[in-house]
Amino acid sequence: MAKIVVTGKIPHEGIDLLTAEHEVDAWDSLDQMPRDEMLRRIKGADAVLTLLTEKVDDEFLDAAGEQLKVVANVAVGYNNIDVPALEKRGVVGSNTPKVLTETTADTAFALMMMVTRRFGEAERVIRSKTPWQWGMFYMLGMGLQGKTLGVVGLGQIGAALGRRAKAFGMDVVYSDRSEAPADVVAELGAKRMDMDEMLRTVDVISLHCPYLDSTHHLMSTEQFKLMKPTAYLVNTARGPIVDEQALVDALKAGELAGAGLDVFEKEPEVHEALLTMDNVVLLPHLGSATIETRTAMATLAARNALNVLAGKAPETPITK
Ligand code: DGY
Repeated sequence: MAKIVVTGKIPHEGIDLLTAEHEVDAWDSLDQMPRDEMLRRIKGADAVLTLLTEKVDDEFLDAAGEQLKVVANVAVGYNNIDVPALEKRGVVGSNTPKVLTETTADTAFALMMMVTRRFGEAERVIRSKTPWQWGMFYMLGMGLQGKTLGVVGLGQIGAALGRRAKAFGMDVVYSDRSEAPADVVAELGAKRMDMDEMLRTVDVISLHCPYLDSTHHLMSTEQFKLMKPTAYLVNTARGPIVDEQALVDALKAGELAGAGLDVFEKEPEVHEALLTMDNVVLLPHLGSATIETRTAMATLAARNALNVLAGKAPETPITK
């Protein structure tokens, strides 16, 4: 029997798979496990399931010990994991792509809809009991039909958002390090552009790239200046891809019409100025937050860990 530690509360379906075969120490509180406690608990673990809030670095790996075989992240994004540090030690890493694609694309689409149609702002009018009346020119938004969506990173989630946008009559363009698969490009009729050209062209830009050194502050002062003043930004990827101060400055200067954000640069902190802006919709990192998707993420992460413990490859590896 191997020892498995689960560092955050996950749906029981994932835990059930693990306990059927191994000894499991699963954190059962909705609060984050304190780092000290986590470092203590993972000592001697053969497998650890981690959440995106846990930093998996040398300190973590040293604390776990040499017997550690696998770190299974219960998230698609794995910027919390030092992958070379895992590889150096021969520890396998995995994530949970695919199972959260549609849910995250729904979130991005919802943010796009909310911000362009001013639904966040409108809801606050009702809740604050501000007097209002139907009017021909009251709280008009921007229609999506005939507009252009720019997808940064036409991977699975970007393509799923593209499908939704297409169904709503939008044109889809994208920028990416490489050409997207031919079937995806054909299905979406999506033209690839370089980033600057895309920024100048689009009515909404939505970020779907991983957070890497090369994508840190990918959207900053210069980029916002290239955008149409009527355009919107949507971010459901990772907060630090956007320079939050530059975004605030661009919004204040009217260089951009609004933003829909599910992730933040210093999460869970949110830039104070964003809280006061009516043309900004803010969600507390809910991209994949459905019961079905979180269950699928937990079971995929569990299967990944079990596979490695059984001497097999994980379904969705992040290490070579
Ligand atoms: C992920 O899996 O990376 C998402 O951000 C979780 O919602």
